[in-house]
Amino acid sequence: MRNPPLSETVIRGAVNKKLPHDSAIKQVSGEAEYIDDIPEPKDLLHLYVAQSPYAHAKILKMDLQAVKSSPGVVAVYDANDVPGINDASPVAGDDPVFAEDIVEYAGQALFVVAANSIQEARAAAKRAEIEYEELEALVTIDQALAAGSFVMPSKTLLRGNPEQAINSAPNRLNGRFEIGGQDHFYLEGQIALAYPREDGDVHVFSSTQHPTEVQHNVAKFLDIPDHSVTVEVRRMGGGFGGKETQGAWFAAMAALAAKDTGRPAKLRLDRDDDMIMTGKRHDFVIEYNVGYDNDGRLDGIDFTFASRCGRSADLSAAINDRTIFHADNCYYLKDVRITSHRCKTHTVSNTAFRGFGGPQGMIAIERVMDEIAHKLGKDPLDVRKVNLYGKTDRNVTPYHMTVEDNVAPEIIRELEEKSDYAKRRDAIRKFNETSPFLKKGIALTPVKFGISFTTTFLNQAGALLHVYTDGSVMLNHGGTEMGQGLFIKVAQVVAQELQIDIERIKITSTRTDKVPNTSATAASSGSDMNGKAAQAAARKIKERLIKFAADHYNVDRADIIFKPNRIDIGEKTVGFAELVQQAYFNRVSLSATGYYRTPKIHYDAENYSGRPFYYFAYGAAVSEAIIDTLTGENKITRVDIIHDVGKSLNPSIDLGQVEGGFIQGMGWLTTEELYFDEKGLLRTHAPSTYKIPACSDRPEIFNMELYESGENVEDSIHKSKAVGEPPFMLAISAFNALTDAVYSASDYKSFPNLDAPATPECILKAIHELDGKVT
Ligand code: MTE
Ligand code: MOS
Repeated sequence: MRNPPLSETVIRGAVNKKLPHDSAIKQVSGEAEYIDDIPEPKDLLHLYVAQSPYAHAKILKMDLQAVKSSPGVVAVYDANDVPGINDASPVAGDDPVFAEDIVEYAGQALFVVAANSIQEARAAAKRAEIEYEELEALVTIDQALAAGSFVMPSKTLLRGNPEQAINSAPNRLNGRFEIGGQDHFYLEGQIALAYPREDGDVHVFSSTQHPTEVQHNVAKFLDIPDHSVTVEVRRMGGGFGGKETQGAWFAAMAALAAKDTGRPAKLRLDRDDDMIMTGKRHDFVIEYNVGYDNDGRLDGIDFTFASRCGRSADLSAAINDRTIFHADNCYYLKDVRITSHRCKTHTVSNTAFRGFGGPQGMIAIERVMDEIAHKLGKDPLDVRKVNLYGKTDRNVTPYHMTVEDNVAPEIIRELEEKSDYAKRRDAIRKFNETSPFLKKGIALTPVKFGISFTTTFLNQAGALLHVYTDGSVMLNHGGTEMGQGLFIKVAQVVAQELQIDIERIKITSTRTDKVPNTSATAASSGSDMNGKAAQAAARKIKERLIKFAADHYNVDRADIIFKPNRIDIGEKTVGFAELVQQAYFNRVSLSATGYYRTPKIHYDAENYSGRPFYYFAYGAAVSEAIIDTLTGENKITRVDIIHDVGKSLNPSIDLGQVEGGFIQGMGWLTTEELYFDEKGLLRTHAPSTYKIPACSDRPEIFNMELYESGENVEDSIHKSKAVGEPPFMLAISAFNALTDAVYSASDYKSFPNLDAPATPECILKAIHELDGKVT
């Protein structure tokens, strides 16, 4: 649209408005461009990665002669061909792009073949002659714990005297709980397309949440300066944390081929290879030892978390820290110890995944709440309520941050009423009394999720804004779009600031040569940080326009008012484009950068003490489940959610995040099962064996709303709250509802030992283990 008609009274696309995702129509029509849609240049090289078949082995010999002389092959690269450092890790320097002498997981990259077609590259890779000496593989968490195998030292958070508190409590319980991992199953797999440029530079299109990290890793790998590498991404077909670090390996390979051959090079993993080669959500083994009073209130608690990190550190330090930070969820843990073991196994290196370790901490305390309720014969919701953080006392987290914005009690109260929780619980009890095989369950669980990167320095963002002389605007910032709606939200912020219709703003791809030194789009903080950075850039330009108008028209600054698509200057009214043009002719700069750093946060990582989070996002969900006790089949039949996004920047996008997050969480806890065999081979590496939720799994009744009185007490962008990850954890209610249904199969006498995911097999097993089992 050359000159869209302008609205004169309101801004189309201001903040707080329901707007569709900027790519929604393009995505449906197929016009939205993903990396694999970029027209292929005629001399494009296709890359195929050869993988280790063993989880742990010494490479005795690797002869690639036959690969190199295979038809269509242009080049083959392994660890010996790396000009710089053979590593593409985020932090620890322990992620070799190509294996050197040893392989540490089945699927690890050995070498990459660059050929004229992907078929030729694939066929050639098979012709390698490799000899291995197989070594013992540690596959499970228990094996790693027994062997003392860790990717980094174990950590402990301690407050008060949990032993004493537990031992002197009127009631005690302890248990063990296993939680499975999760594949990201983004629709677009990992992909990189690299172009050689002059001076030995490379331009890499990478499907990544973290262009800067890919840039740094590629530069280091090729031994060239950061300024010689440009990384670009317009959008991802989903990231969910899986593209926070591990896309760098493939970008490095494609960049090497491009730089070495002078031809563009594309590396795209197919689904199976993607699932085998790249990391997932950490699975956990959790032990708990708890003391509580007769109301169910916790006296003392001792948690041990052990996670499967895989062969390298990746982001496991921060992920397991976040588990520690979320083991309280909405509850006050007075005397508490949380021990965290980060197990090294010979499996793929696990990585970020929506919630970033938080969900595993939260589901643990929710399990404890359910079990306490069982022991005391209480409604689990009553036990949850007596444990909630207080407003003025009992309000300090185990890591010494005061909870200042606690709205969990209000949200729970509202949801309890709106969802008819009490009535439905009674009805379910009655149903279960007369239904011998089908059993129902219900659970209400709250969510409190800390917003900010716990690595404090990452909480910074930049933006770049150009206003062209026709009044159209180019918006760029360091955040990446993965479907979450970040770009439209940031555009809304700019539209609001400049009082222009959103059609005037061009949303552009994320590029390291436009906004440098960015953080990953992660920790749900994308719109918080990039929104503020873009706002700062827009304010700079607005300020210049005001100053110019005041001089030019000789009016008071106070008499210059930005109205929709026009500016009132004293008695006069000038269109936005007109003022911009006048400013240009009078030599006023119409381009600005913006920068933001999150205030207030600080944190001492050694002592788990400080304020790692700027604020908390809250929500609550009630799930209702039905199970067949003869087969273990199950379904979540109804879900009610109230979720707090503060003052929503865009309620349509936010509700989309709530729904998507919930369903993805439900998949994690019900159907998605990762199965590694005893040799460490992943046996579930395609949708045939790995079941993500289908349309038919969406609860028939699904009532979602944003918390109406929601507001951010902090100075966040337009008082909104981050929404990307928190709703994922609302799905814990689905797991607790299934637990409740299994529990009912013992007439509520025997608490089930139900692990996650609660697949039919797992449910059936838990039923058979019940003391007073029905079958
Ligand atoms: N929503 C969609 N559609 N696709 C995604 O990949 N990733 C999630 C969440 N929502 C994701 C998503 C994750 S893991 C995070 S951290 C946030 O979006 C990141 O974006 P934000 O910071 O802009 O919320
Ligand atoms: Mo999200 S797991 O922080 O990318």
